[in-house]
Amino acid sequence: MQDRKAQTSVPIHDLMARRWSPRAYDLSRPVSREQLQTVLEAGRWAPSCNGDEPWRYLIWDRARDPEGFQKAFDSLSENNKKWVKNVPLLMLSCAGSNFQATGKPNRWTQHDTGAATVSMALQATALGLVIHQMGGYDAEKVRAAFNIPAEYTPMAMIAVGYEAASPDILDDETKAKELRPRRRQPLAERFFEGGWGKGVQF
Ligand SMILES: Cc1cc2nc3c(=O)[nH]c(=O)nc-3n(C[C@H](O)[C@H](O)[C@H](O)COP(=O)(O)O)c2cc1C
Repeated sequence: MQDRKAQTSVPIHDLMARRWSPRAYDLSRPVSREQLQTVLEAGRWAPSCNGDEPWRYLIWDRARDPEGFQKAFDSLSENNKKWVKNVPLLMLSCAGSNFQATGKPNRWTQHDTGAATVSMALQATALGLVIHQMGGYDAEKVRAAFNIPAEYTPMAMIAVGYEAASPDILDDETKAKELRPRRRQPLAERFFEGGWGKGVQF
């Protein structure tokens, strides 16, 4: 297993520094029901606008539901299929369009759904698991295959499992992605203070 801990400008909590999105998964190590429940519980307690909890997640455990897993897998892009073939569990996050209480449009639904997914990613990291989100899949294919209602927008496919002992199980192209340095823009490029575009200074 690689040490891919973030090189941060100042120390941050270990959970956030250690969370990353690997592609080399160990297919021989399933996600237990207890672990899955803990990860979902972390998502359940994410904040949301008006406490609406607009997210919905579809879950496919390869060991329990091989057919469902295969259908979800079939919706992935060819590049993602190359490594998800070793993933034991997939999830799909979906964002509801309207507030449940009022039926009015919810402008924060995708924001809230992403927040729930990050909570789950951090909980997974704490359990020794890894999570990798994907936008590379056919949303309409997965909608049709699993009868996702029109008012829900499929957001991210999410791989969950244990990291493999070595990235050598990957094909060359995917392995190169796995090994490339983890980078982020400087704080001042993304965080402004005193006006739009004015990078925060310390
Ligand atoms: C919404 C979303 C979609 C993504 N889509 C893909 C994808 O289709 N395939 C992939 O390999 N990684 C995908 N990623 C992973 C990102 O490339 C990754 O999070 C980013 O490079 C930062 O790396 P880190 O998560 O290891 O810090 C996606 C991430 C997010 C949040």
